[in-house]
Amino acid sequence: MQVTVLGASGRTGFHVVRLLIARGHTVRAGLRSRKRAEVFRDVKADPVVADVTADPEDLVEAFKNSEVVINAIGAPDPEPESVNLVDRDGAITAMRAAEKAGVARFIQLSAQFADSPDQGDRLVRSILLAKQVSDSVLQRSALTWTIVRPGTLTDGPATGRVKAAGHLEPGRIARQDVAAVLVGALAEPLTENRGFDVVSGDFPVGSALATLD
Ligand SMILES: NC(=O)c1ccc[n+]([C@@H]2O[C@H](COP(=O)([O-])OP(=O)(O)OC[C@H]3O[C@@H](n4cnc5c(N)ncnc54)[C@H](OP(=O)(O)O)[C@@H]3O)[C@@H](O)[C@H]2O)c1
Repeated sequence: MQVTVLGASGRTGFHVVRLLIARGHTVRAGLRSRKRAEVFRDVKADPVVADVTADPEDLVEAFKNSEVVINAIGAPDPEPESVNLVDRDGAITAMRAAEKAGVARFIQLSAQFADSPDQGDRLVRSILLAKQVSDSVLQRSALTWTIVRPGTLTDGPATGRVKAAGHLEPGRIARQDVAAVLVGALAEPLTENRGFDVVSGDFPVGSALATLD
């Protein structure tokens, strides 16, 4: 399957690319700028410029022939102006471009409490509010959607074990485990047209996704 990863140079996105390749998928590594292409020198992914704040037609071109888009972008800073540009409007632009390019499925890396920003950490409220808007646009789109809402991300090692459910108590999770969930969603029909929280836990990713409530 051909998959385009947005934010492929990011700390989570890069793990997503590597996992997809390991599972035999054809990967387009979506980059904000060509300058980051060197990151993929030794990785069997096709780097493609996919800046969600640039010309939407470039995104349509970047998505052509991909069955799935995995969106792992994140604004460089938590200022509302920046997150609204990237996590809200940029993500929506990517969804519209995916529809136009004939992409079937869109997997969105969101955040725990993006579906109830008033209950989330005040320090990241601007991000939650931006993601709340783009997540709801995705749910109303023509795309088969999945919204993954992880707790606080860490750079700890992969554990391969998580807890996933509609809503969970606040938690933490390694970026590598989030990547495994995003990629694992491709193989689990229960994740289609569904949003769920994910934190570190006791269940192998496959079983956690196969038993979503
Ligand atoms: N931090 C947390 O605790 C936490 C918790 C839950 C959810 N999240 C969410 O998880 C996601 C991934 O987080 P992360 O820490 O792994 O991200 P990260 O390392 O900051 O990477 C962000 C990626 O987004 C790309 N990007 C930024 N602006 C872009 C644009 N205009 N067009 C295309 N790509 C753009 C960056 O490209 P460059 O490399 O070129 O800058 C980078 O590849 C984010 O959406 C974040 O909000 C974070």
